[in-house]
Amino acid sequence: MPRKKLIAGNWKMNCLSAEGTALAKAVAKQTKETKFDCDFLICPPFTLLGLVKKCLRGSKVALGAQDVHFAEKGAHTGDISPLMLKDLGCTYVIIGHSERRVDHHETNELINKKAVAAHAAGLNTVICIGETEAQRNAGETIKVCQKQISGSVPADADAKNTVIAYEPIWAIGTGKTPTSADVQEVHAAIRAALNKKLGKTIANKMRILYGGSVKPSNAAELLSLPDVDGALIGGASLKADDFIAIAKNATK
Ligand code: 13P
Repeated sequence: MPRKKLIAGNWKMNCLSAEGTALAKAVAKQTKETKFDCDFLICPPFTLLGLVKKCLRGSKVALGAQDVHFAEKGAHTGDISPLMLKDLGCTYVIIGHSERRVDHHETNELINKKAVAAHAAGLNTVICIGETEAQRNAGETIKVCQKQISGSVPADADAKNTVIAYEPIWAIGTGKTPTSADVQEVHAAIRAALNKKLGKTIANKMRILYGGSVKPSNAAELLSLPDVDGALIGGASLKADDFIAIAKNATK
């Protein structure tokens, strides 16, 4: 069964109201003007979720957040709960991005806990994994990704509530990407790890996105690989034209 591709934008810590509104409106408009064969998701910072939701009205672009706390509510200063995201109109949340694993010392255990809480609140998760440059050079990429899948992906994950994003850390924001053969090899190994954890039916249906310096010029090649089911896009998602140009390569 073909997997419908997901083209997701992670805006990271970018955009104030005016910029974010203009960007979301431009993405919504362009997704309505052309017929696409993929799903769309944009993940602005928390501060813009309400505004962006309004801009996306009437479009098929889903709204997601970039992180979530695992608790329902309570004494967690500065944190945001799954139900708060749901309340704002989010249907997705990114969990375990490498920038959070590094900056906030997030572990596989914590990411797993966040995913369980997000699923319980009815949110879909984009669970991120990926190796460092040193791990890649040491030939440990597949081992690292297997461990992250085994630890971060909860037992309740299925093809509807979970998307995996493979983002080699050394490819994020650097303009460097692995070769197509390397990307396909890692994605196939991730699917095998999902098979082991969740069974064949779920593993075959679950979308595995590639992230790390995806741009209009390399999108066709990356999105044509058999186990690449979409892209998680950082820098290029901040320009509506680039984001849409990437999506034009996303066919089944
Ligand atoms: P870039 O597309 O800027 O490399 O970022 C990728 C990423 O980290 C998306 O989550």
